[in-house]
Amino acid sequence: MPALVLLGAQWGDEGKGKATDLLGGSVDYVVRYQGGNNAGHTVVVGDQKYALHLLPSGILSPGCTPVIGNGVVVDPSVLLSELSGLNERGVDTSKLLLSGNAHIITPYNVTVDKVTERFLGKRKIGTTGRGIGPTYADKINRVGIRVQDLYDESILTQKVEAALDVKNQILTKLYNRRAIAVDQVVEELLGYADKLAPYVADTVLVLNQALEEDKVVLFEGGQGTLLDIDHGTYPFVTSSNPTAGGACTGAGVGPTKISRVIGILKAYTTRVGAGPFPTELFDEDGEALRRIGGERGVTTGRDRRCGWFDAVIARYATRVNGLTDFFLTKLDVLTGWEQIPVCVAYEIDGKRVEELPYSQTDFHHAKPVYEMLPGWSEDISKAKSFADLPKNAQSYVKALEEMSGAPISAIGVGPGRDETIEINSFL
Ligand code: GDP
Ligand code: IMO
Ligand code: MG
Repeated sequence: MPALVLLGAQWGDEGKGKATDLLGGSVDYVVRYQGGNNAGHTVVVGDQKYALHLLPSGILSPGCTPVIGNGVVVDPSVLLSELSGLNERGVDTSKLLLSGNAHIITPYNVTVDKVTERFLGKRKIGTTGRGIGPTYADKINRVGIRVQDLYDESILTQKVEAALDVKNQILTKLYNRRAIAVDQVVEELLGYADKLAPYVADTVLVLNQALEEDKVVLFEGGQGTLLDIDHGTYPFVTSSNPTAGGACTGAGVGPTKISRVIGILKAYTTRVGAGPFPTELFDEDGEALRRIGGERGVTTGRDRRCGWFDAVIARYATRVNGLTDFFLTKLDVLTGWEQIPVCVAYEIDGKRVEELPYSQTDFHHAKPVYEMLPGWSEDISKAKSFADLPKNAQSYVKALEEMSGAPISAIGVGPGRDETIEINSFL
């Protein structure tokens, strides 16, 4: 079983960092395949807490090689400060591999992200402001800057010129901003070249050779299924493909190599930024989930919107990702509710709908149809096996599994590495 994908089954922040770290000790490579430092993955090891944005969570497992694949967009200043932050805490980062084909988030991409959002006003997406969308837009427009361009000043200059030609017109004439000077950008980018050089590699070759040798490769998604540019709640999405297929394009590995796709699924639902969210709560239950679950963004510090578990979304995630397993996280957060509502279907314009509607209009009109499940009050954070869980917590998990369409193979009962119940082994 050489290659596994681990990805978000909802709107991000499901606990991918913790789940990846848990497997980090048993895999040879952990690969980020899309997104950039819009991600915030929390890993708790003992009394140490790490917030990773660009680095794969495998960086904290000494035997594991962390890889930033071609599909990732990389802000060099963020990468270097994340590396030095970890080095200061005694984490060895020397094994990191960075794809020469990964695209660079330039300072002008960050500027464009911010001004575009401001210009959209109340129609804004609520992006993380990290330049993600504009960098992917440049990639698709074929005016992107790649890591390898840092090593050819002439090519880099021509490419920055090409990118800024149009952008400066837009910035000055439409957004009333100052033009960005080509040589300033080139100088800044060249300043990163030597510092990044030790990590730059042909990661596609490395990963495929590793798979030939039966090494275990874990792909760590950023964001989540409903934030996918193709399969998410467009336009309220990110600009990449967090879904399983993204691992193939974002790392250069064929789909025949992937044997397991694990969806990370929170026992309730959260979302950051704008966009539809049928089970969102605006009452004290939502406030309690936010408080007990610590639902505050790792990247932007924004409060996360909170709501009950949505089985329609989980089923959709199973389908579009071909999920083989779920890792259910944060079950402990639900301790203390007498009854827990779970959304089993939607009501759209008076009709009951069991599956996620493809139409944006319908999804905006979707009202949750709830089933009430009995809650539990016992502390479950020390549970080590499924049998240790109170009966109602067991039934909650079983009900979610039944509704979601794939086996729940692990359950998170706390943020720490060891606060996990393993049901089926992932490896
Ligand atoms: P990611 O972006 O998917 O990696 O998730 P985040 O790190 O943004 O958010 C998940 C939060 O939940 C982090 O603070 C984790 O430490 C925490 N967490 C993960 N799993 C569990 C769990 O099972 N129980 C509790 N209480 N917290 C968890
Ligand atoms: P992790 O990996 C939750 C959201 C933003 C916004 C939308 C587009 O920690 O789960 P972008 O900056 O990507 O153009 O913003 O996507 N978003 C996330 N929400 N978790 C994330 O990452 C996210 N990354 C982006 O809030 O709504
Ligand atoms: Mg996060």
